[in-house]
Amino acid sequence: MKVKVSRRAHFNAAHRLYRQDWDDKTNQDVFGKCNNPRYHGHNYELIVSVTGPIDPETGFVMDMKVLKDLIREEIEDAFDHKNLNEEVAEFKKLNPTAENIAVVIWNKLRPHLNESLELEVQLFETPRNFVTYTG
Ligand code: NI
Repeated sequence: MKVKVSRRAHFNAAHRLYRQDWDDKTNQDVFGKCNNPRYHGHNYELIVSVTGPIDPETGFVMDMKVLKDLIREEIEDAFDHKNLNEEVAEFKKLNPTAENIAVVIWNKLRPHLNESLELEVQLFETPRNFVTYTG
């Protein structure tokens, strides 16, 4: 028997989507408003879910306090109120699309979780656009 537990978190961040090896027109055609050279921001909503067996001693899949602190230290402290392109090492050479941000978040959290637990990351870039990565 497995149960999925989830924690919701939030961060604000700026980004720009573009490729240096493309000309301005191609970047504009592909990335549109997200190619603004002066950057723009999103209110990112993050849902981190952990699936695993219930520990018979505690009744928990995972201590949510531990998950909360992990998300704050690894994700919120690193991304909140940052310019993702300029200030977050992972995006120096990686376009900070919602897809790539979700994968980066997953990769940052995974090493801190017990191997018996499955990890899912859902990232909302807008209330209507969201991506899911499960590894
Ligand atoms: Ni954008």
